[in-house]
Amino acid sequence: MHDQPTVPSPCLPPELAVIVPTYKEVDSVEELARRVATVLTGIAWELIFVDDDSPDGTAERVRELARRDPRIRLLQRVGRRGLSSACIEGMLATSAPYLAVMDGDLQHDETLLPRMLQTIQEEDLDIVVGSRYVEGGDTGTWNARRRSMSRLATHIGQRLIRVDLRDPMSGFFLVRSSVIQGCVRRLSGVGFKILLDILSASERPLRFRELPFSFRERQAGNSKLDNAVLWEYLLMLTQKIIGPLIPLRFIAFSLIGGLGVFVHLAVLWPILHVLGEGAFLVGQTAATLVAMTSNFFLNNILTYRDMRLRGRQLLWGWMSFVLACSLGALANVGIANHLFQQGHSGWFLSALAGVLVGAVWNYAVTAVYTWKRPKAA
Ligand code: GDD
Ligand code: MN
Repeated sequence: MHDQPTVPSPCLPPELAVIVPTYKEVDSVEELARRVATVLTGIAWELIFVDDDSPDGTAERVRELARRDPRIRLLQRVGRRGLSSACIEGMLATSAPYLAVMDGDLQHDETLLPRMLQTIQEEDLDIVVGSRYVEGGDTGTWNARRRSMSRLATHIGQRLIRVDLRDPMSGFFLVRSSVIQGCVRRLSGVGFKILLDILSASERPLRFRELPFSFRERQAGNSKLDNAVLWEYLLMLTQKIIGPLIPLRFIAFSLIGGLGVFVHLAVLWPILHVLGEGAFLVGQTAATLVAMTSNFFLNNILTYRDMRLRGRQLLWGWMSFVLACSLGALANVGIANHLFQQGHSGWFLSALAGVLVGAVWNYAVTAVYTWKRPKAA
């Protein structure tokens, strides 16, 4: 039998929009929708799933739910990934004055939602955070590695953003829509740390309160928090320090470039050690090639995660990368030498200028030739 659509009555504009980012959560969305509907009885709500074209058919499952209940909506993004940016786009897709953000894997305690809404209204706050680290909350059954990783990330985040929040990494919160409208253009939108992003992008300190909840165990599917997410977190923090003008990809590219120096030395040193100093030219050439190659692959995995080259493209990518970086090295040496010979800037400044020009060159050229953007139709 076909399910009858459940039309809410009276049909009011939503007071609360619950935004749920999803990636491969096909087995959880229906249960989540059922629980949200139950717990929000008496409140005019809507539930917006923001799905990044999950290969498991999450979007189609949500569409089926939405056909039966008009309060359920779907935002399907194609060719894009990212928890934070998904939340931001979901928050911008509603007229509701209050916005809750909640994971789609049932790990967040939806029964807290009514209290969060009541608290933000009665205490006239900007944001209410579901917290694992205040009295009464906990992180459930996390392993030791995950727990210490989370604690370290929390600590760095607290230092950097200077907020007195116990759980700035929480992915569960309820915020006034006006707060988001006010800061949306300053959000970085990268990675997982949407709450930290909002707190640091807001011009005035936000009035907040943390309510405890206990982080449930995942029932289906897997966590998407991997090493690449930690890397994105590092990038986001770096950008907060040096300002939004420098493109994030350039920061990533430069950090990896810095790492290349260590790779270079790690190759050169054993060669000299074994073959003697007579092998310097061979060693230096080999070290340069290895460092360039490892930089190419790291950039391909991290900096250009969203437009990764694969298969045959890798070969062309690698060749163009090595070529571009060789020219960059020439420019680097030429400029540094020129400045040094002029005698106005000492060796340090000359070298720094050379490195900077080389880095910008490498970044700009490989962005155009190695990781070509697909042409807009
Ligand atoms: N649209 C979209 N795009 N959703 C995503 C993406 C993405 O690229 N990556 C993850 N999600 C969704 C997941 O489907 C899930 O609903 C939610 O975002 C959280 O992802 P998980 O992979 O389950 O994260 P977690 O449980 O390991 O991490 C949780 O705890 C962290 C704190 O330790 C999350 O709540 C994080 O936000 C939080 O920082
Ligand atoms: Mn989860």
